[in-house]
Amino acid sequence: MNAPILCVVGARPNFMKMAAILPALKARQVATRLIHTGQHYDPAMKETFFQQLGIPEPDMDLEVGSGTHAVQTARIMMGFEPVIDAEKPRAVLVVGDVNSTIACALVAVKKGVPVIHVEAGLRSGDRGMPEEINRILTDQLSDFLFTTERSAEDNLVAEGIDRRRIHFVGNVMIDTLFRLLPLAPTAVEVMAAGGHGVLDGAAFGLVTLHRPSNVDDPETLNLLMTCLAQQSKKLPLVFPVHPRTRQRLQDGGLDRVLDRARVILLPPVGYLEMLGLMKSAKVILTDSGGVQEESTALGCPCLTLRENTERPVTVTEGTNTVVGRDPEKIAAVLDDILTKGGKAGRIPELWDGHAADRIAQHLAAV
Ligand code: UD1
Ligand code: UDP
Repeated sequence: MNAPILCVVGARPNFMKMAAILPALKARQVATRLIHTGQHYDPAMKETFFQQLGIPEPDMDLEVGSGTHAVQTARIMMGFEPVIDAEKPRAVLVVGDVNSTIACALVAVKKGVPVIHVEAGLRSGDRGMPEEINRILTDQLSDFLFTTERSAEDNLVAEGIDRRRIHFVGNVMIDTLFRLLPLAPTAVEVMAAGGHGVLDGAAFGLVTLHRPSNVDDPETLNLLMTCLAQQSKKLPLVFPVHPRTRQRLQDGGLDRVLDRARVILLPPVGYLEMLGLMKSAKVILTDSGGVQEESTALGCPCLTLRENTERPVTVTEGTNTVVGRDPEKIAAVLDDILTKGGKAGRIPELWDGHAADRIAQHLAAV
């Protein structure tokens, strides 16, 4: 019997990863079922990605929606348990570090179903991040741990995980980036299509922010918006706004800080549009994990507006600089990039477009 691997997606950054993994498993005749937990559900956070990334309709949508961590995690677990009972999978495959990742891994392991974690071993060292807790726990539960960079294996071994479970395969997110980059529109087309004013080929910076540590506290969010308004005097900034951030800006009336600044606020953009913006941006300012990696793959200078990163290879080999949230430091690094072009990076080891196939090769053999 060819029992399926249940492949779980829930939130935006999961879709790019699964878009590489599903076809690779199919090519090696590994049966799969796709389960969407429904953690992200707005069309701009879900349907757009399924269409653009060529992901098939999920076999099941648990439709859990938003909630506190406990409520959301519990709803996913309760929804996922009967799916395991019905499908009797040979394994459950989870990606990344979102609540859907830990919730499904936990259900699976208690039912004796092996867990496969793609993007294992990343550590920021910051337990205040919900994702860090999800990463540590998911890795402890996993039978197959596929890593994107060498540092991840050291982290896992330091936490007592058997080396034989760990496989360095590269970065599935970058598989998808290389595949779809030729289809990305230009930045001018993206802006024109959105009716948000054309950039006319002028240099611009791209911003994304959604980490609770940056957007949930009104004082911190105000500081960051004031900083963006100030820096936009140097070059216009395009800022597709995550729903969490949109909510916080509205709650605090903080979008007004940007009123007269050269900051163009957009709704969340589709993946191809995001690639189009990233490939033309002069610089990217972000707190996103995926965007740090993508900017390194594209050779675009990146400022990470956090105190740490779980993706150190983007700093040691790529174009990323962790600048924190000090406006003076942000201004200084930005000036350096605008005058000298920023640091030259290279593409990290095995970020070559074939990570998903390496994963499929392992899984087809067991
Ligand atoms: C989640 C992940 C985070 C990831 C991010 C990617 C966890 C703990 N966090 O954060 O690691 O970087 O996704 O984008 O899993 N909302 C909508 N529409 C949606 C989805 C969310 O309006 O389709 C709003 C709701 O108000 C919700 C809030 O965004 O309460 C936060 O959503 P949630 O999934 O809880 O966390 P994210 O901040 O999106
Ligand atoms: N992304 C997108 N549209 C946007 C913002 C981000 O398509 O408006 C893409 C981005 O290019 C990357 C992924 O979403 O592929 C990253 O997701 P996100 O930043 O939400 O989560 P994180 O990686 O921080 O967990």
